[in-house]
Amino acid sequence: MARRLSLAGLSTDPRVAPAPAPFPWWRSAVVYQVYLRSFADSNGDGIGDLAGLRARLPYLAWLGVDALWINPHYPSGGADGGYDVVDYRAVDPDYGDVADLEALVDDARRVGLRVVLDVVPNHTSDQHRWFQAALADPDCPEAGRYHFAPPSEEPPNNWQSLFGGPAWSRTPDGRWYLHLFAPEQPDLNWRDPEVAADFEQTLRFWLDRGVSGFRVDVAYGLYKDAALRDNPGFYAPTLFGHGPEQAMTWNQPEVHDVWRRWRSICDEYPDTMLVGEVCLADLDQVALYSRPDEMHQALSFRLLKSAWDPASFAAAISSALDAFGTVGAPVSWVLGNHDKERQVTRFGGGALGRARARAAALLMLALPGSAYLYAGEELGLPQAAVADEAKRDPIFLRSGGARAGRDGCRIPMPWNATDGVGFSPDGAAEPWLPIPADWGRYAVSRQAGRNGSTLQLYRRALALRKAHPAFATGTATVTTNGDVLTVRCAGEEETVRCVVNMGAETALVSCSGTVLLSSSRRVHSAGGTVALPPNSAVWLVED
Ligand code: GLC
Ligand code: CA
Repeated sequence: MARRLSLAGLSTDPRVAPAPAPFPWWRSAVVYQVYLRSFADSNGDGIGDLAGLRARLPYLAWLGVDALWINPHYPSGGADGGYDVVDYRAVDPDYGDVADLEALVDDARRVGLRVVLDVVPNHTSDQHRWFQAALADPDCPEAGRYHFAPPSEEPPNNWQSLFGGPAWSRTPDGRWYLHLFAPEQPDLNWRDPEVAADFEQTLRFWLDRGVSGFRVDVAYGLYKDAALRDNPGFYAPTLFGHGPEQAMTWNQPEVHDVWRRWRSICDEYPDTMLVGEVCLADLDQVALYSRPDEMHQALSFRLLKSAWDPASFAAAISSALDAFGTVGAPVSWVLGNHDKERQVTRFGGGALGRARARAAALLMLALPGSAYLYAGEELGLPQAAVADEAKRDPIFLRSGGARAGRDGCRIPMPWNATDGVGFSPDGAAEPWLPIPADWGRYAVSRQAGRNGSTLQLYRRALALRKAHPAFATGTATVTTNGDVLTVRCAGEEETVRCVVNMGAETALVSCSGTVLLSSSRRVHSAGGTVALPPNSAVWLVED
């Protein structure tokens, strides 16, 4: 019987069930994180830019990711890699202009990629017009949008900056102001309604230009204890993030109302999403940020922080599945980003680190939910050694060199194996961070056509993840057996598995299924048994 359809496309026949809501793209997307300054330089000034990224969209479409998240593109004071924003509704001239961003969004859509921006609501740059006005006049309305305290001998409380030293600095006229990061990043006072109103305009400004959402920086911040009471302990985060010792600075209950308002704005723009950076030790608290009326997802950093052993990885996976499952949100898995040491190095460096990073990639891409893939991980880039004089990271600079800082994971991308690795059109351009002499060996041009390269492994995995939706959307169970970790994902049509050998000996795994992909050339399968060499992973589809 023909369905009768109204003009709006809605069924008017009561016997025809309404079509189920489409599965939203972000629930299973692979989002590629572009460190804009280091991705591709179009005009030869040694700085990556929007036109350079636009020209490389075919590469990202070929790789097979679903969306891009671009690190901050705003005019910035340059104190923290763009996370000190001077103007939230503009593009830093180093990167282009708003028209370039619109062109990027349009071109990306044409090749099936969505663009997600980074938004930084916890703090502005000290160069922001509000902070400048507040410096000039303590009584102006803008001063109420930050945390100022009158001159006194001692800072108002014991809060510490995440980048080292006290979280309070003085203005030239002797007042104190709060900065939980660098002194050039004064924290906003979200109890001032003007702050909230201004960010809502910012969201709409970019959503109106077609972006698909935002990665929300320091989403567990924004509100501080109303009485600015001392923290019970000093800055000493646990492995997995901040805990009760930082109770007065992070995770105040009021912050959830901000995400409810932002969610309702996104709901006006179809297919957009918010993904929050929430670095709290308690994963159940993190999950609360992705309740159905708050952000769509909150990044899960457990994999990125787990030691290379099956118990740690199994706990990372099941605790995240449990915590986010409770609120109905997908887990957003992360193995690397612009703040952490590159995987190859973190997992032991050299051939060992590479083998483990390749296996870890197969593991992450086999998990249900979304995955965040940091540019350059698909090339197996190691952490680069950066000379102290070339370092830009405030973590290095403010710790007096005691902490290495994050520059080594932010080196320009190697596109080809010629002089300058094809980052700038003119190989002679001085890149904004020095490129190691051997960077060409990781170049896209070297790996793209080579079977067994890390780039081909990622590309193959991304294609198989699409072809076998059980990976990204199935129901996962995690088990360990000695050195072997198995994730089994039951989908509607088939059941797939990722098996990882994290030990030093070859492991024999019995399985009646077909091998789809393996991270090592030395994986063998015969007669229902798969031989997995040390530090390797395999994808299987069960018979
Ligand atoms: C987030 C960013 C980091 C930045 C910090 C302050 O943690 O990922 O790069 O330094 O926020 O904005
Ligand atoms: Ca440039």
